[in-house]
Amino acid sequence: MASIEVDVSSLVEGVSLTVQWRGRPVFIRNRTQPATDLARSAGEGRENWIVMIGVCTHLGCVPLGQAGDFGGWLCPCHGSHYDTAGRIRKGPAPENLAIPRFEFVSEAVVRIG
Ligand code: FES
Repeated sequence: MASIEVDVSSLVEGVSLTVQWRGRPVFIRNRTQPATDLARSAGEGRENWIVMIGVCTHLGCVPLGQAGDFGGWLCPCHGSHYDTAGRIRKGPAPENLAIPRFEFVSEAVVRIG
């Protein structure tokens, strides 16, 4: 399947971007240091960048960024709250936001897929 390359050089800390990949939104966020520290303390290996499929795992709505009780995403359809690592923390969604395969191909470009 096709992959896409996204220039993320304009994303300063705390800013996110939504791109389309395989017909679905993908969220790319340059997390703030506290959010990165929180993810690291939870045993997550990723650093400040997070890339995830922007489709709620409940019934498929698109969550809103930097919203909800945990500073991550809030699904407007039935109130699922995801944290800054995309983990489901509250609401009916059964799973965390999905993470696509991605890698940085240079300092400023991430390849998704
Ligand atoms: Fe997101 Fe139902 S589709 S909470």
